[in-house]
Amino acid sequence: MSWEVPLTTRALITGITGQDGSYLAEHLLEQGYEVWGLVRGQANPHVSRLRKHIGDVRLVHGDLLDQGSLISAVEKVRPDEVYNLGAISFVPMSWQQAEITAEVTGMGVLRMLEAIRVVSGISGSRTPGGGQIRFYQASSSEMFGQVRETPQNERTPFHPRSPYGVAKTYGHFITQNYRESYGMFAVSGILFNHESPRRGAEFVTRKISLGVARIKLGLTDKLTLGNLEARRDWGYAGDYVRAMRLMLAAATPEDYVIGTGRTQSVRELVELAFATAGLDWRHHVITDSALTRPAEVDLLCGDPKKARDQLGWEPGVTFEELVTMMVESDLALLSRSDRPADEPLSFDHW
Ligand code: NAP
Ligand code: GDD
Repeated sequence: MSWEVPLTTRALITGITGQDGSYLAEHLLEQGYEVWGLVRGQANPHVSRLRKHIGDVRLVHGDLLDQGSLISAVEKVRPDEVYNLGAISFVPMSWQQAEITAEVTGMGVLRMLEAIRVVSGISGSRTPGGGQIRFYQASSSEMFGQVRETPQNERTPFHPRSPYGVAKTYGHFITQNYRESYGMFAVSGILFNHESPRRGAEFVTRKISLGVARIKLGLTDKLTLGNLEARRDWGYAGDYVRAMRLMLAAATPEDYVIGTGRTQSVRELVELAFATAGLDWRHHVITDSALTRPAEVDLLCGDPKKARDQLGWEPGVTFEELVTMMVESDLALLSRSDRPADEPLSFDHW
């Protein structure tokens, strides 16, 4: 039997200005939720973009670095569900700023759990029911790192290879620990790479789709990349946010792997993206060892069997459809006559 969803479920999303936050907000609004987003900083430019496109979202200020602000946010919103998507999420940045990555991506999870615990009045050890607020943590396939088996599932051991992966591993285990210590409905989705036209331009899929569009439109001739041999399991963000909600609507709090079960190399992605625009990648792509990582994750491939069997979740968009969607979207974006003079740094295409 699945959880009885209250008449109007109220969700609080951290990281609402990011790729997944925007898709999750849209999905929950479609499901009849009241959606609140935690936003940080003053005059955060991502907030005005979010407001422009998803007008029905309510906003509350807070920062994953600031415990008091999270308690105030949970007290104000009184959510039924919290989705913790906020993070420093770009892996290379985590070597440059390892400490802040640990604070936001790792300790931020603990702060959010503590805010829920305090506001719910949970003290001491296991509280019957563990409070009413259900918690979703955005765990990552980056935790598998140097993989011990392929495909990776919920029982595969972790061996993170970046400060980001280490921080996510802390977030994963502290979520599990709050579930076991306090009986909270706290779960982690171990999500493999998922992409969209709203993906940040620093990630390889969007860097490639924007690069292809620029080359096709004659704005440049070259695209510089790092390691072409790394393999990832790439899915579509719009499919993956559905799994987040299903995990919080399940009868029991459990962690799930969310992926497609397929794996492709960056080289295969490049070939397909350029071919989609009628280009031969070999004339345009150059590699630069400065873009390789101190420690690489060579291969990721998720086994989503548990999510399929227990949640009824299936990915809808294939790798080929995803690449076509992103290239076509960036071609349309860069062809627009009202395109801003500065090139898009993030997911300006809605
Ligand atoms: P994203 O686009 O980089 O968004 C990150 C979000 O975190 C932004 O909304 C950002 O808000 C917010 N944030 C950063 N620092 C914060 C702080 N100190 N306090 C509160 N919020 C802060 O990431 P995404 O791709 O949507 O991913 C969502 C989550 O899933 C992340 O936790 C990521 O690590 C995880 N994940 C992603 C993937 C993937 O393939 N996309 C796979 C596995 C796991 P600002 O507007 O304030 O900067
Ligand atoms: N970003 C980037 N830029 N990556 C490149 C480049 C380049 O120019 N050239 C090759 N790559 C390779 C990277 O070395 C990596 O092996 C792969 O492309 C994917 O890189 P990203 O798109 O930056 O994603 P990621 O796999 O490191 O991390 C993403 O997925 C994780 C889940 O596995 C992020 O969304 C993380 O937040 C997420 O947890």
